[in-house]
Amino acid sequence: MTSSVQHLIDVAAQAAVDAGRLIRGKFRGPVTASAKGAAHDVVTEVDRAAEELIRAALLAAAPHATVIGEEDGRGAGPVSGRDDGPVWAVDPIDGTFNFVRGIPFFCVSIGLRIDGCTAGGCVYDPVHDELFTAADGAAFLNGTRVPAQPAGRAQPPLVLCDIPNAGRPPAAAETDLLAALLSAAADVRRLGSSALALAYVAVGRADLAANADVYDWDTAAGRALVTATGGGYLSHPDPLPTTRQGAFVAWAPQHEMLGRAVGDALSHDCLEEKV
Ligand code: IPD
Ligand code: CA
Ligand code: CA
Ligand code: CA
Repeated sequence: MTSSVQHLIDVAAQAAVDAGRLIRGKFRGPVTASAKGAAHDVVTEVDRAAEELIRAALLAAAPHATVIGEEDGRGAGPVSGRDDGPVWAVDPIDGTFNFVRGIPFFCVSIGLRIDGCTAGGCVYDPVHDELFTAADGAAFLNGTRVPAQPAGRAQPPLVLCDIPNAGRPPAAAETDLLAALLSAAADVRRLGSSALALAYVAVGRADLAANADVYDWDTAAGRALVTATGGGYLSHPDPLPTTRQGAFVAWAPQHEMLGRAVGDALSHDCLEEKV
């Protein structure tokens, strides 16, 4: 029998695929990008149309739910304190700057929290037609169960991180962390889509993903995916607010020790000096 969480995630996955079709149809075509803040932080009419499509589908399936989307202020606000019932965190395009520049790494990300707890989520990469879903503690890639990753002895990790983020002076803690990761890791890469990076950790393509400037909608689906395959995460604060960015790191089980050390380095105290 399909659980109620699985049913909601099926609805979200269909919405993500439908939005993904719309996004894919506009990829490398003419789109108008407007600046939101830093030069890489832009929004297009495609982000807005995709978010509207997703919001309508989620509310049609569960009208009592709260939908918090990146591009539309409706429903935004501090989640904690009124986090009862289903709350969706929607990023219609995570990696908009990649999308605008014709780089084929971006995704739709939809996370579900119920009564304050991570319940499930989906990440859809429309260019590569990859759908990552998590519900009831199990993760799937295009419908095939993703096995839990083994713990055991760690090889040097492949790290995906957008730290330090462009557009502001880096905190000393961030440059120190990047230097440490560059010497400890097999490689450190900047994917430009934090939600896709988390999905890659969940399926074992990368070992650790970290970002010091993310909102709840960037990580809500990824945390469900990563934990469903045995990994873990640290979030500062937890959950991330919708009104301000925070830091998030997730790891595959073999890299828990490193992940926790990265999480400590990105803790609020260390980043206080960050602008
Ligand atoms: C961005 C991406 C990027 C991260 C930025 C986010 P957006 O999301 O996740 O990886 O470094 O901080 O804002 O704006 O493309 O949805
Ligand atoms: Ca954005
Ligand atoms: Ca995002
Ligand atoms: Ca976005």
